[in-house]
Amino acid sequence: MIKLFESWRKKGSRPAIEAPSGDNIPKHVAIIMDGNGRWARKLGLPRIVGHRNGMKAVKRATIAADELGISVLTLYAFSTENWKRPKDEVDFLMSLPQEFLAIELEELIQKNVQVRMMGHPNELPDHTVAAMEEAIERTKNNTGLILNFALNYGSHREITECVKEIAVRVQNGSIKPEDITQDMIGSGLLTGDLPDPDLLIRTGGELRLSNFMLWQTAYSELWFTDLYWPEFGREQLFAAVAEYQRRTRRYGGLS
Ligand code: IPE
Ligand code: IPE
Ligand code: MG
Repeated sequence: MIKLFESWRKKGSRPAIEAPSGDNIPKHVAIIMDGNGRWARKLGLPRIVGHRNGMKAVKRATIAADELGISVLTLYAFSTENWKRPKDEVDFLMSLPQEFLAIELEELIQKNVQVRMMGHPNELPDHTVAAMEEAIERTKNNTGLILNFALNYGSHREITECVKEIAVRVQNGSIKPEDITQDMIGSGLLTGDLPDPDLLIRTGGELRLSNFMLWQTAYSELWFTDLYWPEFGREQLFAAVAEYQRRTRRYGGLS
């Protein structure tokens, strides 16, 4: 079915874009939101302007994911390696959840979105954690799109911590080494009960994972674009999902 979007129809100048439809909508889409700094530099602006405009792309991606009926949208917002950046930039990034949620939380609640956070809260400033916790608490009973922010997230640390917990269970005798299963590892990761990403998108032109969901993306379909994250919107999400729908997932078997 061709779905035209009201705002575009009203403007009349933009081409109508077809929303992917059918049964084959990915359940979990994960996005490495990269390129904020280069977007700003291209326009001669400070990097933080790129991050602020990246927030608008977060909103566009969320609305588009909700329209498509995607169940989980995971957004890589800050990696365990991003602490290496200058303090001013890190401080600014840590203020963005608060800024974003102050503007958007009411609408997220109305849209039945459930906000989650995936990452290590310990090193995050209190105000960042407080903003996230408020959003998580106020949306915890929502049953629509799960909007999962990967904040101070890194796969190496996630896997290491999971392995340590399993080692403790072996040490205290509650399980034996031979009881360790792939499912036990999978469910011990920060994604917990979430399905693995069906589709992984990275903006900004880099062709790498940057320590993002290394276990969970074993069979994800990958989609890259040279566009910078502040340039990302509905059209790109639709294009990525449409491409996903044309792929054949074999999981090592035969199609
Ligand atoms: C993504 O944009 C945001 C974060 C990693 C926090 P960047 O800040 O990495 O932008 P580039 O890659 O330097 O352009
Ligand atoms: C990946 O982007 C992390 C996030 C988008 C949060 P980076 O900009 O940190 O990745 P690298 O350094 O180019 O690999
Ligand atoms: Mg980057």
